[in-house]
Order: sequence, then C-alpha cells, then structure tokens
Amino acid sequence: MGFINKKVNKKTVLTILEKKRLNDKITMLTCYDYVTAKLVSSQDIDVMLIGDSLGNVKLGYENTLPVTVEDMIYHTKSVKRGNNGALLITDMPFMSYEISVEDAVKNAARIVKEGGAEAVKVEGGVEIVDKIMAISNAKVPVVGHLGLTPQAVNKIGGFKVQGKTEDKYNRLINDAKAIEGAGVFAVVLESIPEQLAKEVTHCLKIPTIGIGAGRYCDGQVLVIDDMLGMFDNFTPKFVKRYANLGEIIKTAVKNYIDDVREGKFPQEGNVYR
Ligand code: KIV
Repeated sequence: MGFINKKVNKKTVLTILEKKRLNDKITMLTCYDYVTAKLVSSQDIDVMLIGDSLGNVKLGYENTLPVTVEDMIYHTKSVKRGNNGALLITDMPFMSYEISVEDAVKNAARIVKEGGAEAVKVEGGVEIVDKIMAISNAKVPVVGHLGLTPQAVNKIGGFKVQGKTEDKYNRLINDAKAIEGAGVFAVVLESIPEQLAKEVTHCLKIPTIGIGAGRYCDGQVLVIDDMLGMFDNFTPKFVKRYANLGEIIKTAVKNYIDDVREGKFPQEGNVYR
C-alpha cells in the first residue's frame, strides 16, 4: 500500500488538532477556484475553506441560501486541482443536512467522493447533533459553525453580532459543548463578542477558528474576496484588507481598453511572424 499524503507538508485534521495543543495559530482562508488555490496554498496556509459564501462573492446571490450541493462540488474540484498541501474543508449548503440523517450523510459523502473535500462544515448547535454524529461515524470529519450562522439569516433577522444577551451567551457555550461531544474536530465562531469566543476556546479541547470573534480563538478565517478588496458590496468591521485588487483590476482593464481603442495593443512583440 502507498502513502496517501505523499506531500511532506500535507495538512490534515491531525495537524489542526496538534496546533491547538502547541498553541500555534491555525490559518484559514476561503477559496473557490483553481488559480486562487494555487496562489493561496503556495504560502503554506493550513486550511482552505470552500465556503458557501461563494453564493455571495462568486455567484452574486443576496445570501447563501440558494447554493446547492452541486455548486459546492464544482468549486471544491476546482480548488482541489490547485491545492498544494492545505486541508480542504467544504461547507454543506443550506438544507443539505437539516432534513434527515440520511440526507446529511449522503450529501457529505458526495462532497467528499465527487468534490474531493477532506472534511465538511455545518452550521448549528444542539439541534444538529444527530447529523454531526452520523456524518462523523461515516468517516467524514466535521467542522461546526456557531454564532452568526448565515444559513439562518431569516431566523436571526439579518447579519448581526450574536451571543450578546446572557441567555444567548450561555446557549452558545452549551451548543459548542454539544457539537464537540457529537464529534466535530473544530468549530468556526462567527461575529460574537471577544469574551465569549475566549470562554468557548478555553472550554473546548478542539480548536476554535474565529471570524469576527476577536483575538483569543485558536485560529482565524476570512473570506478571501474581502481581505483582497475584491468584494465591496459590504465589508464587515472585522475584515482587515490586505490588498485592493478591485482597484488594481479596474485600472488594468481601463488601460487595456484604452490601448485597444488607441491602437497601442497588440504591439510588435505580441504578433506571430
Ligand atoms: O461560507 C463561508 O465562507 C464561511 C466562513 C465565513 C467561515 O462559512
């Protein structure tokens, strides 16, 4: 039998768990396509998340609800082909795991078998414990997602910071313990007060990965189009912009159009003899 992870630095679920033990921060970015996956994984990122945020930033939907299992498989395949060593986690889209345990396992299996994901992520707490257990028992590693869970946008009344009342604060801690007990190997905490994320991080043996959850999580994740300045429909407070690719692209496109219109492109060096 050959070794499955031939690449020396291939990140796995074990790498992520070990990082918490060593107090070594986990790095995660979303990724949705081959070219970006090549660029991102060339920098030794730990995890690329094929997030259902692709509904917003790639497909132009208002929220993540219309995203399908097929969309997730399509983008996971693309990322997989460009990946160089990162752990690949793919979101299970809205209604692909809520209806029944059987659905949840079937759809998780498709995302792994057809897409090539190495783990899946699901949103929710105690109410989806049976689905998490079933997927994990079917040998698919699962990541949880608590706090602002975008698939619940209609129920929570918008994209708002969560866990601010005492009741919701305690409920989130309870949810975190419940999904850890059900078998998730990590949990994403989105848009919650820093103190709550700190407490959850201390309570759990598994790593927490924050997005808008402050400084004390075991790792951080951002949507790549936000941190590169590609998506400007809405930029949450927690995003740090590391580049302004949107402006760079607009300038390049404008220069190209001007060159073509003025006969400056193509030039001698761009033509065949
Ligand atoms: O869909 C996504 O990109 C996510 C991240 C925001 C964590 O779930």
